[in-house]
Amino acid sequence: MKVLGIETSCDETGIALYDSDTGNMINLLHSQIGIHNEFGGVVPELASRDHIRRVIPMIRDAMQDAGVARRADGIAYTSGPGLIGALLVGVAVGRSLAYAWDVPAVGIHHMEAHLLAPMLEDDPPEYPFLALLVSGGHTQLMQVDRPGEYILLGESLDDAAGEAFDKIAKLLGLDYPGGPAISALAESGDPHRFTFPRPMTDRPGLEFSFSGLKTHVVNVFKETSMDDQARADIARAFVDAAVDTLTIKCRRAMEETGISTLIAAGGVSANRQLRQNLADMVSQRGGRVFYPRPEYCTDNGAMIAYAGYLHLTAGRSEPLGFAAYPRWSLVASG
Ligand code: KG4
Ligand code: ZN
Repeated sequence: MKVLGIETSCDETGIALYDSDTGNMINLLHSQIGIHNEFGGVVPELASRDHIRRVIPMIRDAMQDAGVARRADGIAYTSGPGLIGALLVGVAVGRSLAYAWDVPAVGIHHMEAHLLAPMLEDDPPEYPFLALLVSGGHTQLMQVDRPGEYILLGESLDDAAGEAFDKIAKLLGLDYPGGPAISALAESGDPHRFTFPRPMTDRPGLEFSFSGLKTHVVNVFKETSMDDQARADIARAFVDAAVDTLTIKCRRAMEETGISTLIAAGGVSANRQLRQNLADMVSQRGGRVFYPRPEYCTDNGAMIAYAGYLHLTAGRSEPLGFAAYPRWSLVASG
């Protein structure tokens, strides 16, 4: 089965074509960083307009690269959560194309696609596993019993981890998006000069909070005479605190559930320091940790095509008509 995946929830147009028979994945990405950089963050209207420009030519390119002449067998598109205007581009194009091709279409939850991304690797994890989902909009710990069965163990009460990376990077004068830049700067920082708090690790529970850490960093920044070394030292202390906090919560979730397989997904899981820390912690416990390859960590069409393939083969598809959900919980509430 060939599934076209369309991701337009934020500032990247991701188009992929997944062939489930061969495992072949054509994965095309257009990043809008150049457009939003000068504003220090994503400008929703500019994001929607750029998706409109890119989405159809990229679908054409993906079909051509895959050698698919006429049509895919199914279409999957991100229908939330994300920016409403950006989402609507992918949803409307995907649903319309499915109508024209007379193939089934399915709307995908963006975070579900992130947490299934490690299944695209050659050595995928076995169910059940724990998933640390860390992106620009979410920080969540999930128990994944099988595709579609998710238990939310804990999430951020305020800022997402990626949001904290982006805000601290901005404070330090780094370009948007700040995650990769602040991690690179941290490499040359002194780990002993500052020690920042590990929020909510001194009490039981699997919730996260990053806004207090952010305020703490802002205060240290104001009190410190800034030069390049001070910037690197602050970046280092921040990355260490964020990574340590995420690792402590993952360890606690493994202890509480008895599940020894962990996956990390979402943009922040591309972070080298986080990968190393989680790998050390999990191997100490005799478990295994899995990550998607870096291009499947940040937003991409491949994870949408794969999640779509699972939904479509399970018989799920959308009627004509479409909807996008800017806020959308992956787990049933209450
Ligand atoms: O999953 P993603 O691409 O988009 C959302 O769904 O939000 O995640 C984007 C977030 C941004 O906050 C970005 O700064 C962060 O992931 N990020 C990183 C790294 N690469 C991307 N954070 C830390 N280290 C990285 N290497
Ligand atoms: Zn994402």
